Amino acid sequence: MTIIAVDGPAASGKGTIARALARHYGLPCLDTGLLYRAVGLSVLKAGGDPDHEADALAACDFDAPLLDDPALRSEAVGSLASRVSVHPGVRQALVQRQRDFATQPGGAILDGRDIGTVIAPDADAKIFVTASVHVRARRRYDDALAHGGHPDMDSLIADIQARDTRDMSRDHAPLRMADGADLLDTSDLTIEAAIRQAIALVDAQLEGR
Ligand code: DC
Repeated sequence: MTIIAVDGPAASGKGTIARALARHYGLPCLDTGLLYRAVGLSVLKAGGDPDHEADALAACDFDAPLLDDPALRSEAVGSLASRVSVHPGVRQALVQRQRDFATQPGGAILDGRDIGTVIAPDADAKIFVTASVHVRARRRYDDALAHGGHPDMDSLIADIQARDTRDMSRDHAPLRMADGADLLDTSDLTIEAAIRQAIALVDAQLEGR
Protein backbone atom coordinates (compact mmCIF):
# COMPACT_ATOMS: atom_id res chain seq x y z
CA MET A 1 0.00 0.00 0.00
CA THR A 2 1.45 3.36 -1.07
CA ILE A 3 0.12 6.59 0.41
CA ILE A 4 1.21 9.89 -1.13
CA ALA A 5 0.44 13.19 0.63
CA VAL A 6 0.33 16.42 -1.38
CA ASP A 7 -0.19 19.61 0.64
CA GLY A 8 0.04 23.29 -0.13
CA PRO A 9 -1.75 26.64 -0.20
CA ALA A 10 -4.60 27.74 -2.50
CA ALA A 11 -3.80 27.78 -6.23
CA SER A 12 -0.31 26.33 -5.71
CA GLY A 13 -0.93 23.67 -8.37
CA LYS A 14 -1.22 20.82 -5.84
CA GLY A 15 -4.47 19.51 -7.34
CA THR A 16 -3.02 19.31 -10.85
CA ILE A 17 0.11 17.65 -9.48
CA ALA A 18 -1.84 15.18 -7.33
CA ARG A 19 -3.97 14.14 -10.33
CA ALA A 20 -0.86 13.71 -12.50
CA LEU A 21 0.79 11.59 -9.78
CA ALA A 22 -2.38 9.51 -9.55
CA ARG A 23 -2.21 8.77 -13.29
CA HIS A 24 1.53 8.06 -13.14
CA TYR A 25 1.37 5.65 -10.19
CA GLY A 26 -2.07 4.25 -11.00
CA LEU A 27 -3.53 5.31 -7.64
CA PRO A 28 -6.93 6.80 -6.74
CA CYS A 29 -6.84 10.46 -5.76
CA LEU A 30 -8.91 12.50 -3.28
CA ASP A 31 -9.08 16.30 -3.38
CA THR A 32 -9.82 16.85 0.33
CA GLY A 33 -10.52 20.55 -0.23
CA LEU A 34 -13.76 19.46 -1.91
CA LEU A 35 -15.01 18.04 1.41
CA TYR A 36 -14.51 21.39 3.15
CA ARG A 37 -16.00 23.18 0.13
CA ALA A 38 -19.07 20.93 0.35
CA VAL A 39 -19.50 21.84 4.02
CA GLY A 40 -19.11 25.54 3.18
CA LEU A 41 -21.68 25.36 0.38
CA SER A 42 -24.13 23.38 2.55
CA VAL A 43 -23.93 26.03 5.28
CA LEU A 44 -24.66 28.69 2.69
CA LYS A 45 -27.62 26.76 1.26
CA ALA A 46 -29.02 26.22 4.76
CA GLY A 47 -28.74 29.94 5.50
CA GLY A 48 -26.26 29.25 8.32
CA ASP A 49 -23.20 31.17 9.50
CA PRO A 50 -19.89 29.54 8.42
CA ASP A 51 -18.10 31.15 11.38
CA HIS A 52 -20.53 29.49 13.82
CA GLU A 53 -19.30 26.00 14.68
CA ALA A 54 -22.77 24.52 15.29
CA ASP A 55 -24.00 25.67 11.87
CA ALA A 56 -20.88 24.30 10.18
CA LEU A 57 -21.12 21.00 12.06
CA ALA A 58 -24.76 20.56 11.01
CA ALA A 59 -23.55 20.82 7.40
CA CYS A 60 -20.98 18.01 7.69
CA ASP A 61 -23.35 15.20 6.73
CA PHE A 62 -23.95 16.68 3.29
CA ASP A 63 -25.29 14.42 0.52
CA ALA A 64 -22.57 12.77 -1.60
CA PRO A 65 -23.87 14.23 -4.93
CA LEU A 66 -22.97 17.70 -3.63
CA LEU A 67 -19.31 16.77 -4.29
CA ASP A 68 -20.09 16.97 -8.02
CA ASP A 69 -21.67 20.44 -7.85
CA PRO A 70 -19.68 22.80 -10.16
CA ALA A 71 -20.39 25.63 -7.69
CA LEU A 72 -17.84 24.02 -5.35
CA ARG A 73 -15.01 25.27 -7.58
CA SER A 74 -15.69 28.99 -7.14
CA GLU A 75 -13.37 31.24 -5.14
CA ALA A 76 -16.36 32.30 -3.01
CA VAL A 77 -16.92 28.69 -1.92
CA GLY A 78 -13.14 28.25 -1.41
CA SER A 79 -13.27 31.10 1.06
CA LEU A 80 -16.33 29.59 2.83
CA ALA A 81 -14.43 26.28 3.01
CA SER A 82 -11.50 28.02 4.64
CA ARG A 83 -13.85 29.58 7.22
CA VAL A 84 -15.62 26.33 8.17
CA SER A 85 -12.27 24.47 8.27
CA VAL A 86 -11.08 26.37 11.36
CA HIS A 87 -13.68 24.59 13.54
CA PRO A 88 -12.14 21.51 15.23
CA GLY A 89 -15.49 19.67 15.14
CA VAL A 90 -15.69 20.07 11.38
CA ARG A 91 -12.13 18.76 10.92
CA GLN A 92 -12.91 15.83 13.21
CA ALA A 93 -16.10 15.03 11.28
CA LEU A 94 -14.12 14.73 8.04
CA VAL A 95 -11.05 12.83 9.34
CA GLN A 96 -12.36 9.27 9.10
CA ARG A 97 -13.56 9.65 5.54
CA GLN A 98 -10.09 10.84 4.49
CA ARG A 99 -8.25 8.10 6.44
CA ASP A 100 -10.53 5.42 4.98
CA PHE A 101 -9.66 6.70 1.51
CA ALA A 102 -5.93 6.80 2.33
CA THR A 103 -5.80 3.27 3.70
CA GLN A 104 -7.72 1.48 0.93
CA PRO A 105 -5.92 -1.58 -0.49
CA GLY A 106 -3.25 -0.54 -2.97
CA GLY A 107 -2.96 2.94 -1.52
CA ALA A 108 -4.00 6.42 -2.53
CA ILE A 109 -3.01 10.02 -3.13
CA LEU A 110 -4.66 12.80 -1.13
CA ASP A 111 -4.18 16.53 -1.58
CA GLY A 112 -5.04 19.21 0.96
CA ARG A 113 -3.56 21.21 3.81
CA ASP A 114 -2.98 18.65 6.59
CA ILE A 115 -2.51 15.33 4.80
CA GLY A 116 1.18 14.90 5.68
CA THR A 117 0.76 16.35 9.18
CA VAL A 118 -2.56 14.95 10.48
CA ILE A 119 -4.45 12.67 8.08
CA ALA A 120 -1.56 10.44 6.99
CA PRO A 121 1.58 11.40 8.96
CA ASP A 122 3.12 8.01 8.03
CA ALA A 123 2.58 8.52 4.29
CA ASP A 124 5.22 6.87 2.08
CA ALA A 125 5.89 10.13 0.23
CA LYS A 126 5.04 13.75 1.06
CA ILE A 127 5.26 16.84 -1.10
CA PHE A 128 4.56 20.43 -0.14
CA VAL A 129 3.64 22.39 -3.27
CA THR A 130 3.88 26.15 -3.19
CA ALA A 131 4.24 29.23 -5.43
CA SER A 132 4.47 32.97 -4.83
CA VAL A 133 1.25 34.85 -4.09
CA HIS A 134 1.58 36.79 -7.35
CA VAL A 135 2.02 33.67 -9.45
CA ARG A 136 -0.96 32.01 -7.76
CA ALA A 137 -3.14 35.11 -8.27
CA ARG A 138 -2.03 35.28 -11.92
CA ARG A 139 -3.12 31.64 -12.43
CA ARG A 140 -6.54 32.42 -10.98
CA TYR A 141 -6.69 35.54 -13.18
CA ASP A 142 -5.88 33.63 -16.39
CA ASP A 143 -8.33 30.91 -15.45
CA ALA A 144 -11.15 33.40 -14.86
CA LEU A 145 -10.40 35.18 -18.16
CA ALA A 146 -10.43 31.86 -20.02
CA HIS A 147 -13.88 31.18 -18.56
CA GLY A 148 -15.26 34.52 -19.72
CA GLY A 149 -14.93 36.28 -16.35
CA HIS A 150 -13.74 39.80 -15.50
CA PRO A 151 -11.15 39.17 -12.79
CA ASP A 152 -9.51 41.88 -10.75
CA MET A 153 -5.86 41.15 -9.92
CA ASP A 154 -5.82 43.17 -6.67
CA SER A 155 -8.83 41.42 -5.22
CA LEU A 156 -7.46 38.01 -6.27
CA ILE A 157 -4.21 38.79 -4.43
CA ALA A 158 -6.16 39.94 -1.37
CA ASP A 159 -8.34 36.77 -1.42
CA ILE A 160 -5.31 34.48 -1.63
CA GLN A 161 -3.48 36.32 1.14
CA ALA A 162 -6.56 36.18 3.39
CA ARG A 163 -6.94 32.45 2.74
CA ASP A 164 -3.22 31.77 3.39
CA THR A 165 -3.36 33.70 6.65
CA ARG A 166 -6.48 31.88 7.86
CA ASP A 167 -5.25 28.42 6.79
CA MET A 168 -1.81 28.91 8.36
CA SER A 169 -2.86 30.56 11.62
CA ARG A 170 -5.80 28.40 12.71
CA ASP A 171 -5.30 26.46 15.95
CA HIS A 172 -6.21 23.02 14.58
CA ALA A 173 -4.20 21.34 11.82
CA PRO A 174 -2.84 24.59 10.35
CA LEU A 175 -1.24 24.57 6.92
CA ARG A 176 2.46 23.83 7.34
CA MET A 177 5.08 21.65 5.73
CA ALA A 178 5.08 18.15 7.25
CA ASP A 179 8.19 16.52 8.71
CA GLY A 180 9.84 14.57 5.92
CA ALA A 181 8.09 16.47 3.10
CA ASP A 182 9.93 17.79 0.05
CA LEU A 183 9.25 21.35 -1.04
CA LEU A 184 8.20 21.93 -4.66
CA ASP A 185 8.03 25.62 -5.62
CA THR A 186 6.13 25.85 -8.91
CA SER A 187 6.46 29.66 -9.30
CA ASP A 188 8.83 29.43 -12.29
CA LEU A 189 7.82 26.02 -13.62
CA THR A 190 5.53 24.99 -16.45
CA ILE A 191 2.89 22.42 -15.49
CA GLU A 192 4.87 19.72 -17.31
CA ALA A 193 8.11 20.60 -15.48
CA ALA A 194 6.32 20.73 -12.12
CA ILE A 195 4.85 17.27 -12.74
CA ARG A 196 8.25 15.88 -13.76
CA GLN A 197 9.83 17.25 -10.58
CA ALA A 198 7.00 15.92 -8.43
CA ILE A 199 7.45 12.42 -9.87
CA ALA A 200 11.23 12.61 -9.30
CA LEU A 201 10.73 13.70 -5.67
CA VAL A 202 8.17 10.95 -4.99
CA ASP A 203 10.34 8.30 -6.70
CA ALA A 204 13.31 9.31 -4.54
CA GLN A 205 11.21 9.17 -1.35
CA LEU A 206 9.73 5.78 -2.26
CA GLU A 207 13.21 4.39 -3.04
CA GLY A 208 14.57 5.69 0.27
CA ARG A 209 11.85 4.03 2.34
O1 DC B 1 -7.66 23.08 -1.56
P1 DC B 1 -8.90 24.00 -1.59
O2 DC B 1 -8.60 25.39 -2.06
O3 DC B 1 -10.03 23.39 -2.35
O4 DC B 1 -9.35 24.11 -0.06
C1 DC B 1 -10.40 24.95 0.36
C2 DC B 1 -10.25 25.25 1.86
O5 DC B 1 -10.53 24.06 2.61
C3 DC B 1 -8.87 25.68 2.30
O6 DC B 1 -8.69 27.09 2.18
C4 DC B 1 -8.79 25.21 3.72
C5 DC B 1 -9.68 23.99 3.75
N1 DC B 1 -8.94 22.71 3.71
C6 DC B 1 -8.42 22.25 4.90
O7 DC B 1 -8.52 22.94 5.92
N2 DC B 1 -7.79 21.05 4.95
C7 DC B 1 -7.66 20.31 3.85
N3 DC B 1 -7.04 19.11 3.93
C8 DC B 1 -8.16 20.77 2.60
C9 DC B 1 -8.78 21.99 2.57
